[in-house]
Amino acid sequence: MCGIIGITSNKSVSAAIINSLRKLEYRGYDSAGIATLSNNEIFELKAEGRVDNLEKNLSISNMKGNVGIGHVRWATHGIPNNINAHPHSSDTVSVVHNGIIENSTILKKFLVSKGHNFKSQTDTEVIVHLLTEYLKTDELIVAITKTLKQLHGSFALGIIFKKQPDLLVGARRGSPLAVGYGPNENYLGSDSYALKSMTNKITYLDDGEFCLLKKDQVEFFNAYGKKINKKVLELSSNEAIYDKGDFKHFMAKEIEEQPITLKNGIREYVDNINNDINIYNFPWQISEISSIMLIGCGTAYHACLMAKYWFENLTSLDITVDIASEFRYRKNKFKPSTLYVFVSQSGETADTYAALDLCNKNNAKTCAIVNVIESSIARDSNFVLPIHCGPEIGVASTKAFLGQMLILYMMGLKLGFMNKDINKIDYVNKIKDLKKLPELISQTLLTDDKIQTVTATFNKAKGSMFLGRGFSYPIALEGALKLKELSYIHAEGYPAGEMKHGPLALIENGMPVVVLAPRDDYYKKTISNMQEVIARGAKVLLITNKSKDEVFSENIWETIEVETSNNDLLPFLLTIPLQKLAYYSALKKGYDIDKPRNLAKSVTVE
Ligand code: G6P
Repeated sequence: MCGIIGITSNKSVSAAIINSLRKLEYRGYDSAGIATLSNNEIFELKAEGRVDNLEKNLSISNMKGNVGIGHVRWATHGIPNNINAHPHSSDTVSVVHNGIIENSTILKKFLVSKGHNFKSQTDTEVIVHLLTEYLKTDELIVAITKTLKQLHGSFALGIIFKKQPDLLVGARRGSPLAVGYGPNENYLGSDSYALKSMTNKITYLDDGEFCLLKKDQVEFFNAYGKKINKKVLELSSNEAIYDKGDFKHFMAKEIEEQPITLKNGIREYVDNINNDINIYNFPWQISEISSIMLIGCGTAYHACLMAKYWFENLTSLDITVDIASEFRYRKNKFKPSTLYVFVSQSGETADTYAALDLCNKNNAKTCAIVNVIESSIARDSNFVLPIHCGPEIGVASTKAFLGQMLILYMMGLKLGFMNKDINKIDYVNKIKDLKKLPELISQTLLTDDKIQTVTATFNKAKGSMFLGRGFSYPIALEGALKLKELSYIHAEGYPAGEMKHGPLALIENGMPVVVLAPRDDYYKKTISNMQEVIARGAKVLLITNKSKDEVFSENIWETIEVETSNNDLLPFLLTIPLQKLAYYSALKKGYDIDKPRNLAKSVTVE
């Protein structure tokens, strides 16, 4: 959350900063700002809303300076407005910040008592004044270390100094920050995505470290101000196209890309000759593992929940699932025979990272399932299984969800086989079925018209429900999440069997209810639950899979049929119409589909 960019160069930097801020907008889009340094003066421009608003300001093209910082904000302290937008500056320094300073109120009191005037409601401004205060008496490195030591909470910082003509400082604790190397210029970025268009040579700061960048020099320091050496990494060169192409929105493109996502994932992990799954370099013997705990946030948590159903079917291991923000504060009993699996598209989600960090501190076995292989979660896990689905830009996750489910399914299949819980014939048959999945997804993507017609009812409704049992329950949760994220319609996902324990009271005449009832082991039970909601006036949109048998139920409002596969794979297919329902519903309402209100793609604050 929040995006940072910094550039120190031998040429003017404002245009390049604006360009990079656009790439970072997925991290926050409440407001944006830029500060540059020229002739010992700091120039600052900020705007509420999008980077476009910032760019509309005519003075931006005249903004001089060969060193500068930029920021896109996702508000934590203080409403999103011009004053609270970053950078925050004194007459000595200018700062951009990602994260939360938890002791800002105490620090502010101290600084006010020293005569500092605060302009904004942000926690960030204390950093500006602390630095300004220390720089009155201390030299630069001492002032930085003293300031950082005072801060509680998490931060990634970009700082420029009035009296240091080409200096750019970065610092990290908790929130990610990367340094990039270019010809006669160096960069700071809150993730490699923003830097990729400028360089593929990167160094990630670790917690507690800070760096001093000049156009031709990069120095790293630890928390005590002692110089350290860091490795330069070369980023993977398979740059995916960060472009919408002919699509109106990234989300639409990402939904349509899903057959390719799955094909890539299958190609990476399935050995076609031997019909086997390679989970490369799995660092443990299967006999060392008796249980698996799956951890994630948001959509990634739903993928974890899905995996619980698969793993329980495919293996005899004990499986538990947790939301990262809950896990990190729980009194966990870490066992050496438990494998902790962290699922995250970005690999930077603060709560998921904190949960991983806790596991590492307890010497637990850790595995990351991530899309961004250079991410913090990937780097700090014992073992990484990349999703290989290319950059996902739409804030609401679609192709990464299918990608996460694919890797988890293959992992469950492989572990079940290694543990002798499933026999060779079943294993090979399931792999053969899996190879057909991309084509089935392509076919299912063609069912469009009916979804477009039902959206009008959802858009008029006070609220909606998504019901499923067993394998379909996590998908019901994900369908409800997608609809609320994008269309701001109240939507609840529920296990269909739980309806009579409370939620049935919400059903009233005309309420749209999505029932996921594929022809699997739960089919008949779910159909009974569906009849109970129809009897109470619900308008049921039934999503099932194609079959020669008719659905025996009256008064179903609409039915959508996805393609048919073995039961394990039906969750992938059921997801497609739910993604489209959310997309078309938001499209009809004219909402900002790729950047829904109040949300951000990469949630790097707690
Ligand atoms: C945010 C995004 C969601 C995502 C969640 C977890 O809330 O908007 O789409 O599912 O973070 O993100 P991660 O990168 O860890 O998968």
